[in-house]
Amino acid sequence: MKKEWQGLFITIEGIDGAGLTTQTTILADRIRSLGKEVLVTKEPTSGPIGQVIRRILSGEIKHEPCVLALLFAADRAYHFSSEILPALLKGQVVISDRYILSSLAYQGVFLPVSWVKEVNSCSPDPDLCILIDVDESTARERIEKRGNRREIFEREGEAELIRRNYLELAKKLSWVKVVDGRGPVDQVANLIWKVVEPRLEEVST
Ligand code: TYD
Repeated sequence: MKKEWQGLFITIEGIDGAGLTTQTTILADRIRSLGKEVLVTKEPTSGPIGQVIRRILSGEIKHEPCVLALLFAADRAYHFSSEILPALLKGQVVISDRYILSSLAYQGVFLPVSWVKEVNSCSPDPDLCILIDVDESTARERIEKRGNRREIFEREGEAELIRRNYLELAKKLSWVKVVDGRGPVDQVANLIWKVVEPRLEEVST
């Protein structure tokens, strides 16, 4: 199917502690060094719906899983139409630290994945999604080093359920590519680059 944009839409995914933000920054720098324009963005956004989501994630507001799932879907629809699509239409590369696969993997622990997919149908699939795969104990070590533990998604065993969902989704969705995230930062960055570099030909700018 022909895309409706000239840019390239890449998303970076994985369980908490997989190194998404670090790898997003490195990837953006590498693409920029080739002279291409890159928009780096993330979900939850810092917009109005994203701010409510953060208050839920911090435990300040109580929630039901389906309320959180609907908020993530609304935040994403807002994010795509207000930031991502305009950049893609200008031919830019957009890298989003989390997008639709986060909802399918995380909310899919508590809710049917088919329903989560349905409520996200306003937001198109990315051109490419890099799933940085790490096991729960590696992720936990990294989160502990970082020292900003969050309670809601970081309970024992939950990360493995989320990881399992991610890997199942990767088997079914052709636009998801799994990268081994256990190695040092540079090594993981090189693995990501091997997947992304050939796709940059699709970008005209
Ligand atoms: P995270 O990337 O950790 O944000 P930050 O680095 O700013 O703290 O994302 C916040 C959490 O939200 C993370 O645990 C994953 C979760 N999440 C979902 O459950 N569903 C979603 O659709 C998204 C985008 C994130």
